[in-house]
Amino acid sequence: MHPSLDNTAQRAPIRDVAVIGTGVIGTSWCTCFLAHGFRVTATDPAPGAEQRLREQVARQWPDALALGAVKGSDPAQLEFRTNAREAVAQADFVQESGPERLEFKREVFALLDEAAPAHAILASSSSGIPASEFQAACSRPERVLIGHPFNPPHLIPLVEVVGGRLTSAQAVRAALAFYQAAGRKPIALHKELKGFVTNRLQAALWREAYGLVHAGVATVEDIDAAIANGPGLRWAIRGPFTTQSLSGGEGGLRHLLDHLGPPMDGYWQDLLPTRLTEEVKRAVLDSAEQQMGDWDWASVARERDRLLVALLQLKAQQAGRGD
Ligand SMILES: NC(=O)c1ccc[n+]([C@@H]2O[C@H](COP(=O)([O-])OP(=O)(O)OC[C@H]3O[C@@H](n4cnc5c(N)ncnc54)[C@H](O)[C@@H]3O)[C@@H](O)[C@H]2O)c1
Repeated sequence: MHPSLDNTAQRAPIRDVAVIGTGVIGTSWCTCFLAHGFRVTATDPAPGAEQRLREQVARQWPDALALGAVKGSDPAQLEFRTNAREAVAQADFVQESGPERLEFKREVFALLDEAAPAHAILASSSSGIPASEFQAACSRPERVLIGHPFNPPHLIPLVEVVGGRLTSAQAVRAALAFYQAAGRKPIALHKELKGFVTNRLQAALWREAYGLVHAGVATVEDIDAAIANGPGLRWAIRGPFTTQSLSGGEGGLRHLLDHLGPPMDGYWQDLLPTRLTEEVKRAVLDSAEQQMGDWDWASVARERDRLLVALLQLKAQQAGRGD
């Protein structure tokens, strides 16, 4: 981000949000923004998109209510336009959630920049394309940034916010404040990097997991069980660094590193240099098929969402206890 682009002028409050693309992520964003009292206008050129969106938002609404939707919020207030220019004409904040292709992001951001009001923040849900790669085509690139959610964004609170070379610090601050108002827990990244922070962390874990299945050390089922019954439980509570510090007892992270740092460095040197070759894919797909071949994915997703809601409610209650 360019420091000269900082500007501390006050912004008007964000009330109107436009969601561009109503696939998996855009739909869940609509639920999230509606539940937090924003006026939402969505657009998607796919045939039948409006009906699918409305049905899906209605299905997600009970979970949004369980997590504390604001008084008076109503999924029926969702507006839909087939024309993207019309969808963003009144927007204070635009959440782009279309296909993950650089050419698409360049074209759609040029259009959003032309059609949205000058004060609107233009955010992309991109999982890994830095804003610097598509903001240059905009006449006001300082308001273009990444607001990267995790699936499904109406339940998972994390949003990674990161600007490109031409993004202003003011736009980043406004986006952070907006996501907080939408009940999210945003983090601001200090540098742009492909995959941002969290997808890089996930990719590191998946690389080793794919390598271990390929090497015949463990099955897909073993690895899922290991993470879900082991470190995953702790990570959901405090994250990897606090978890590691707790393993150091009273000496905390410093003692842990003196004691278990050298073996950790040894594992780092020994990690498998896995690439996603056809052979690795086949090994993982064969192992996954044995475990998951007959699963009903809709019910797996419902079960995940039910437990996520319960966990988020518990975390919110416990956070209020102050111990
Ligand atoms: N799926 C995930 O887990 C996940 C998580 C975080 C971020 N993301 C990011 O979110 C974005 C959307 O991903 P998704 O998984 O929802 O994809 P998706 O394929 O489910 O949805 C994309 C939608 O964009 C629509 N679209 C195509 N052209 C369009 C246009 N010109 N204008 C408006 N809409 C258009 C499509 O019809 C489709 O409904 C991507 O950038 C992706 O990297 C995805």
